[in-house]
Amino acid sequence: MRACVMQWKMPRSVVLISIALLAMCGPALSDRESAFRGRRIAEANCAECHAIARYDTSENPAAPPFRTLSRRPSFATLRQSMSGQIFLRHAVMPDFEPTPDQVNDIVDFIENIQFPNP
Ligand code: HEC
Repeated sequence: MRACVMQWKMPRSVVLISIALLAMCGPALSDRESAFRGRRIAEANCAECHAIARYDTSENPAAPPFRTLSRRPSFATLRQSMSGQIFLRHAVMPDFEPTPDQVNDIVDFIENIQFPNP
């Protein structure tokens, strides 16, 4: 209640500028949130084999570290292929079939940690 009352005492210009700023960072914020969710999904489902951070090594030496995936030609189509056969080919995650939202989150996350960052 108190916070509410305080907000209304703010000068109108401050409120308007804040709203404008928020609107401007809208897409960037949601990308970051998506990448954050992607990280959580990767921690739970991928980290047992793949290195998922900037400076770690893969538990499974055959699994490419996520930060190096952009070096592969397959990276350009990762979003599509993750919704399709990649997980069947890879055949290591019997109980993980990502929803389209989860695919977006994971790929946003993977794009985010490419090294060196674009
Ligand atoms: C049990 C081990 C294991 C787990 C868990 C695992 N992977 Fe992999 N992954 C591998 C191995 C091994 C390879 C390399 C051989 C291959 O391409 O199948 C690989 C390759 C990949 C590739 C590159 C494929 C290509 O065509 O270049 C991607 C992308 C990938 N994994 C994503 C993921 C994601 C996302 C998760 C979690 C949702 C995950 N993996 C979980 C073992 C694993």
